[in-house]
Amino acid sequence: MEMENRWLSEAFKGEVPDGFQGKVGWASPSNIALVKYWGKKGKQIPQNPSISFTLSECRSEAFIGFEKAETFGFKFFFDGKENPAFGEKIEKFLLDYQAFFPFINQLNLKVESRNTFPHSSGIASSASSMSAFVMGLMAIENQIVGKQFDFQKASYFSRLASGSASRSVFPQMALWGATPCFEGSSDEYAVSLENDIHPVFKTYRDAILIVSGETKAVSSRAGHALMEGNPYATARYAQANENIKNLLVALKSGDLDTFINITESEALQLHALMMCSNPSFILMKPNTLHLINEIRAFREETKIPLCFTLDAGPNVHLLYPESEAEKVDGFIKNELVKYCVDGRWIADRVGDGPKKLL
Ligand code: PMV
Repeated sequence: MEMENRWLSEAFKGEVPDGFQGKVGWASPSNIALVKYWGKKGKQIPQNPSISFTLSECRSEAFIGFEKAETFGFKFFFDGKENPAFGEKIEKFLLDYQAFFPFINQLNLKVESRNTFPHSSGIASSASSMSAFVMGLMAIENQIVGKQFDFQKASYFSRLASGSASRSVFPQMALWGATPCFEGSSDEYAVSLENDIHPVFKTYRDAILIVSGETKAVSSRAGHALMEGNPYATARYAQANENIKNLLVALKSGDLDTFINITESEALQLHALMMCSNPSFILMKPNTLHLINEIRAFREETKIPLCFTLDAGPNVHLLYPESEAEKVDGFIKNELVKYCVDGRWIADRVGDGPKKLL
């Protein structure tokens, strides 16, 4: 609430100068959660804190052309083609939160968006696309009022646009959600963990093994809502808080055994929660299980500290230290690509956060 009042009072409410026009552009990365956000309340307030790696290769780019107009105008282009359906979520966000950005009512906006990862890769693009858009919107306001970019504010509005997007705003790793274990953490925005992690995590690899390119069987919005009736919800939130506490310690010390243990348990819990919601969902595919078994057997045999996590879908994120990249890349090519649709996987890694393009 404190933040809400601050951004409301600081919002530019004056007249946009005549002839005001131009274009801004931001690229923002996707992120993969280690401790999962699954369940929310109120205005996009998480039921438990979450921690993620910010990725590097999987990004969205958003260019926003703007010009002074009599009323609010909005057009959305995806991959060079007008796509009102894709732009709907952004337009709704703008209309719902226009009190924070009243200047939009004096602008025509043309948003041009694209993702660096294939559309049919089953990789959720809402975190990267919504954060890229929010950063562009803030860049327009900053041009009017001549302000510096405020990443905390970018995270706050990215959260309102799509919860996990709040974490994409920061390099390397981010924590979203209030926890007594991390000073300055908040339910309203994410904070950077850049200065609180061991060097091993700063260059971590994430090989995204594409088991299916189909869109998700359950949207995250529906998934979060299902937690409201989930009989295990209270136990889950307690467990997530415990995992946050222990993971923060492991991230700092570079304790890979604890990191692996918590990361895999979180991935399986997310899927277990969906299996016991009503209606229930099984989002893993047979090849998801094959991959998990192969990864665990390889770890057991070689003692290489690799592990998996899953998003709310069948694809497997294989996480490993950069120092093991050669051996793990060989393992992927020799043993794992056969479980990937058309042999597809994306070699991603921890990245350095959003970038201003224009
Ligand atoms: O940000 P949303 O509403 O799309 O939810 C994201 C949920 C998960 O990706 C499954 C977990 C997470 O913390 O990113």
